[in-house]
Order: sequence, then C-alpha cells, then structure tokens
Amino acid sequence: MQFRELLPRRRMVRHYRSEPVPREVVERIVGTVRRAPSAGYSQGQRLLVITEEDGRAEIARIMGETGWTAPDGRELWLESAPVHILVCTREADYHDRYRLPDKLVEGEEIDWPVPFWFVDAGAALMLLLLAAVDEGLAAGVSGVECEAAKKVRSTFGIPDDVTIIALVTNGYPAPDPGWSAVTSRRTQPRRPPADIVRWERWYGADESDLTVDSSAHGKTLQTLRVLGVDLDAIDTGAAGTLAAERDQALDPLGLALEDCLDGPVPVVAHPTCDAGALGAPLHGVAKEDAVHESVDDHSPPHHAAMIAARAGSRAS
Ligand SMILES: Cc1cc2nc3c(=O)[nH]c(=O)nc-3n(C[C@H](O)[C@H](O)[C@H](O)COP(=O)(O)O)c2cc1C
Repeated sequence: MQFRELLPRRRMVRHYRSEPVPREVVERIVGTVRRAPSAGYSQGQRLLVITEEDGRAEIARIMGETGWTAPDGRELWLESAPVHILVCTREADYHDRYRLPDKLVEGEEIDWPVPFWFVDAGAALMLLLLAAVDEGLAAGVSGVECEAAKKVRSTFGIPDDVTIIALVTNGYPAPDPGWSAVTSRRTQPRRPPADIVRWERWYGADESDLTVDSSAHGKTLQTLRVLGVDLDAIDTGAAGTLAAERDQALDPLGLALEDCLDGPVPVVAHPTCDAGALGAPLHGVAKEDAVHESVDDHSPPHHAAMIAARAGSRAS
C-alpha cells in the first residue's frame, strides 16, 4: 500500500474481531521497529509482545483497574485484542552510546534538552501503527498508568532498567462506535495545518502572525473561556493592526514579545476587550484573584498580559 493511501486509514481502533492474527504477520509488524530511527543509533527501543490468552487477559485485568477496558458500556477493547504489544525503552542504551569516544564532547556525555529514549519510543510506536494498517489490521494505543505499569512489570518480568511507554493493541478491526463517539478525534477537529506547520520563521517578518500561534493562542482562548470572557466580544482587526496594537500594549509595560511567550500561560487579550484586565499570574492564583489583579501588581514579564486574540480561531 502506498504511504499516501495508508496514512488516512490509520486511526485508533479500540475493538477487534475474535479472529487470531497469524504469527508471521505479528512478526512483520514488530520487525518494523528494527528500522526505526534512534538517536546515535542507540537502538533503545524494546517491545514485549503478548499473544497468549492468559497474558492478554492479565493485561486487561490490570489495565481494567485503571478504567480503560470498557468503561460506560463501550465495546471491549483490551479483551478483544488478539495481540498486545508493550512499547518500552531502555535509557541506559543511550548513555552507553553517548559515552563512546565519538560522541563525547570535551570528554562529557552531551546533555540533550529532551530524553531521546522517549523520542525513539514514539518513533517505534508510530511504525507499529502504520505497519498494522499495512497488514490489513488495526491498532490502538493506551497509556499505562503508574500503578498498572508496576503490576505489568512484575507480572511479565520486565527489568527495572526498561521503561514501559505505552500499550499497543493489534487485531482485525471491529466497529467501535461507542469509543469513537467519545474520543477526542471525533469530538474536536484536527488542528488546522497553519497551527502545526510554520514556514521559514516561527513568526512572520512583521510578527503579525502571532495571531496563529497555537500554543499561546490555544491556551489563551482556553484561559479566556475559563475566566468567563465572552469570546464573541473579542473583535480583531487585520493582522498588521494586531501587531501594532500588541506592541502598543506591551510598550508601557516594558515587555518584549518573547518575555510574554516564555511564561507558563501567556495570557492574550485583545485591548478592546474587557479581558485586558487579565494581566495577572494564572498559575496558583484563584480565578477570582486572577481577574481582579492588575498588570502593574506583577513585575515578572511572564505574568503580564498580552494582547491579540483572533476571532474565529478555536481553542485546541
Ligand atoms: C502516547 C499515547 C497514549 C495514548 N493513550 C490513550 C489511552 O490511554 N486511551 C485511549 O483511548 N487512547 C489513547 N491514545 C490515542 C489517542 O487518543 C488518539 O491517538 C487521538 O485521539 C487521535 O485519534 P487517532 O489516533 O484515531 O487519529 C493515546 C495515544 C498516544 C500517542
């Protein structure tokens, strides 16, 4: 199957037909992970494949305690899946690799800003999902909560230096309307491309496309809603006007755009809206306090208010 045909078919399926999946098919699916990229070629990805009925039932029992099996009368998920794959990672492989002479920098292991062992597990997981579709199967992913992970670890003898990332289920798809009705894919649209992909620079040359910054903007709209601000009252002008208005509002506060976006929850409010009063720290501050405190009471830039919310955009 061409990638272009395959990708749109991938979705989480949370109910399967009882028919078993031939061993060689499962082997091909899990075999794809050998082709996954890994930082420094550390190859820290690990899989535990569980196909025997007792093992799968045990996983379902353990995970059922966390409420993911079939809550609220939805179709059976874990119990119906003929193949369970625990996607795991071994952090030590990365340290071993990055302590080899060709990777040391001034004699030290590089301190990467993100743990590559989790990144690589994600890449492996994606391969499993796509390979399942390629084989005419379907796949689902479930997180494994901490308590469940402990039980899974002891039940299946997973060593301490291997971290469980997620559970992937495989099988021939059966209708799962109960799950579909409540899962986020059905209840909210995918983000528009412009929210996800930027070109050449994060902000445009005049920074006017601040208005499509999803991280700030999505949180902002969410924040405004929490604070009870009428989003319809937020009237936005043309993009260029927004940038000018933003700068005008930031200037008296002695703030730069970067200061505001670095903070935990950038509060974005259009100056023509009452939400201009939102200049308050939102972390650890009660909703009521947040609305009533003023910008001047708070010197840290990331607690300050910003401007500009775009009408018609949506919170994620
Ligand atoms: C790391 C990870 C953990 C997930 N955990 C769960 C979960 O515990 N339960 C669940 O129903 N779906 C889980 N999902 C599936 C997402 O909800 C799903 O990918 C998302 O809603 C988009 O739907 P789609 O994959 O069908 O396009 C998880 C997905 C990932 C990548």
